[in-house]
Amino acid sequence: MKGKFITFEGGEGSGKSTQLRLLAEYLENNYQIPCVQTKEPGGTDVGIEIRRLLVEGDKDKMDAIAEALMYYADRRIHLTKKIWPALEGGKWVLSDRFADSTMAYQYYGYNKRVDKKILDGFYDLVVGEGRGPDLTLIFDIDPEIGLARSRAKAGQMEFAELRHESRELEFHTNLRKGYIEIAKENPNRYIVLDANKTIEELHEEVVKVIKERLEL
Ligand code: TMP
Repeated sequence: MKGKFITFEGGEGSGKSTQLRLLAEYLENNYQIPCVQTKEPGGTDVGIEIRRLLVEGDKDKMDAIAEALMYYADRRIHLTKKIWPALEGGKWVLSDRFADSTMAYQYYGYNKRVDKKILDGFYDLVVGEGRGPDLTLIFDIDPEIGLARSRAKAGQMEFAELRHESRELEFHTNLRKGYIEIAKENPNRYIVLDANKTIEELHEEVVKVIKERLEL
């Protein structure tokens, strides 16, 4: 792939979306790198329909396997229609969430009730070896602070996106620990950032990490 693929991960209200936008602007302004800003679920037209099914309604309307399949269907369309073509064209792709969200939410969040091998199998089928992110930034935040931020924003959202936020605090605490576990498995690809900082401080850290890891 000619471009770089960077993913932004974290719990609710971690500020990752703002950091994604700031990094894209920074790369475009300082290095003239064309960036595609995208997200999961909902990075394509079909994905927007899938997103609606996933984020609204009762939290128990689907189990973790059904959810994971839908996230992976969205991901496959996202990769084939948007991410891979952009990378082949030399653009950098910055995605607000990717496969680590499925591991964090559908595996760790649900307290490991799903067989991890199933999710690893979905990854191999949909993404495949060497076709995933070059770098993943994990924005770590206390779930109580993140949820409060996220709920304050919910009124401005297009759909009633409260399905995940309505889960109990334990889910979000598991999720946070899950991200830390995921990061430990491959320190070369993951960076955990303390998201309890100001937007400007966090942006500076993101820029520093990107310069170091991607040798800009
Ligand atoms: P967002 O609020 O960051 O846009 O993400 C939408 C919700 O979907 C969020 O609560 C996290 C959740 N999610 C999963 O549970 N599994 C996944 O694979 C992805 C991509 C998102």
